[in-house]
Amino acid sequence: MKNTYNIGIIGSGSIGGLLAKFWADAGHNILFSSRNPEKLKSLINDMGTNAKTGSVQEAAEFGDIVLLAVNYQSVNEALRTIGNRLDNKIAIDATNPLGYDDKGKLYRMIPEDITAGEFMAERLPKTKLIKSFTTLW
Ligand SMILES: NC(=O)c1ccc[n+]([C@@H]2O[C@H](COP(=O)([O-])OP(=O)(O)OC[C@H]3O[C@@H](n4cnc5c(N)ncnc54)[C@H](OP(=O)(O)O)[C@@H]3O)[C@@H](O)[C@H]2O)c1
Repeated sequence: MKNTYNIGIIGSGSIGGLLAKFWADAGHNILFSSRNPEKLKSLINDMGTNAKTGSVQEAAEFGDIVLLAVNYQSVNEALRTIGNRLDNKIAIDATNPLGYDDKGKLYRMIPEDITAGEFMAERLPKTKLIKSFTTLW
């Protein structure tokens, strides 16, 4: 087992950005991704040399472990961008299948008869998928 991992972050927002800062502080190598990676420069300014930015595809390829933390409306688009790059890798899925309706009320975005973990596992059948960090207030 290694002590230092390459961790790709797909969804470098509130949860992805925060988790990755802890992992970078612990010495892991982080690639923060965005659809517009240049906007992440300020995020890594005060971090060590073990953090860099790149595209979503680069994060998927870079990671021994990849964190999925995009907002749920974008999950399908993000998975299309990722393609088969997570095959045989470990991915941590922090997404919650929740959206807001036009009155600002939270609603469940997937059918009642399937869990969010099952829903993602069906889309990433060759990935070692871990569902975690999905705490809600
Ligand atoms: N915030 C929390 O405390 C928390 C806790 C537990 C779980 N969660 C879950 O984690 C997920 C993310 O929440 P968040 O609060 O971190 O959201 P957020 O701050 O809005 O960040 C979402 C990130 O997703 C990226 N993104 C959007 N569309 C994308 C696409 N098509 N391809 C690749 N990246 C895309 C965005 O990056 P770019 O726009 O730069 O591409 C953005 O940085 C949600 O499912 C949420 O339910 C959040």
